[in-house]
Amino acid sequence: MNFLKKTSLLILIILFYMSCTNTSESKMGISKEKFAELDGKTVDIYTLTNNNNFELKVITYGGIVTSFKMPDREGKLNDVVLGYNSLDDYIKENPYFGSTIGRYGNRIANGKFTLDGREYTLAQNNGPNSLHGGVKGFDKVIWEATPVTGKDSVSLKLHYLAKDGEEGFPGNLDATVTYTLTDKNTFRIDYHATTDKATVVNLTHHAYWNFAGEGNRNILDHELMLNADAYTPVDSTLIPTGEIATVEGTPMDFRTTTAIGARINDNFQQLKFAGGYDHNWVLNTSPDEKFTKAATLYEPTSGRFMEITTSEPGIQFYSGNFLDGSLVGKSGKPYEFRTGLCLETQHFPDSPNKENFPSVVLRPGETYKTTTIHAFSIK
Ligand code: GLA
Repeated sequence: MNFLKKTSLLILIILFYMSCTNTSESKMGISKEKFAELDGKTVDIYTLTNNNNFELKVITYGGIVTSFKMPDREGKLNDVVLGYNSLDDYIKENPYFGSTIGRYGNRIANGKFTLDGREYTLAQNNGPNSLHGGVKGFDKVIWEATPVTGKDSVSLKLHYLAKDGEEGFPGNLDATVTYTLTDKNTFRIDYHATTDKATVVNLTHHAYWNFAGEGNRNILDHELMLNADAYTPVDSTLIPTGEIATVEGTPMDFRTTTAIGARINDNFQQLKFAGGYDHNWVLNTSPDEKFTKAATLYEPTSGRFMEITTSEPGIQFYSGNFLDGSLVGKSGKPYEFRTGLCLETQHFPDSPNKENFPSVVLRPGETYKTTTIHAFSIK
């Protein structure tokens, strides 16, 4: 009897333990569905989830992050990036919502640059300048996708081979962009590229964040910190003048956390040129550290907080000045003026034409390798 009692107690303990481990089943995962068809090719949509209700959707067209859901301080989920529901909408008009940007992020003056004594001509798709890789940049091509499952993370590896001469750039550029969602609530982007001819490269990600939920209201009450003592002033076409100017005493000083709307309408020439913030900040990098804490973003009503760390020397902060309500987003609401903001880690705009800016030249045998980490929390 005694023996029987002991055995059944043991069985009960084992069963209890098993049920506990079963209920804590991991929600971390990555799944694939067909999103649309384009020119006889399938465009897929991948869903990445973690154990804390974060959910990230990526399509193979443009490597676009179409949605990014995360909880607020009450645990309520919102989609915190701007985007569309259908591929047709992305094709019709997309101001780079959630896109992968390449081969060259931001502007190159007059669509021209000289490398090793040869002049290259690019499309002038933004006034007189070339913007975000040209007419058909990396945001408009179909990427080859490979899902990867780690122990505490899931990744989507996107690969694209940009041909020698594509959009006017020299060299076959073999590019890989890896999106990783972790159980620590980080969204990491790793860029990797090699070339067979000297070329210029500047890859970035163009999420439009709105921590109050996409389509809800403008981003002027979001509080921003930029770890930068200097920025690169621009001319009226948003091309850097080449000067590295101090932020001290200007509305460009975000070294102390400040609401975006606090000084955006100040009578300051740089803000007038861009219709708000649309500039590159020179990050306070340290020669001994590979990564720099670049920015933090906080939205007081939801409590959502993001910290961006990067291996890049610069960050473009764009306050959504070109949004005017004419584009209708995924929940049927028009994206009004300044209802999303971008924080694009990068090398400086127009670097191919600026000798004093960090080099963006990639040569055969070299590897382009950069990383940006977005860490989320609630405050
Ligand atoms: C970047 C540019 C902006 C604008 C947006 C897209 O952030 O710097 O000027 O072109 O992309 O509209």
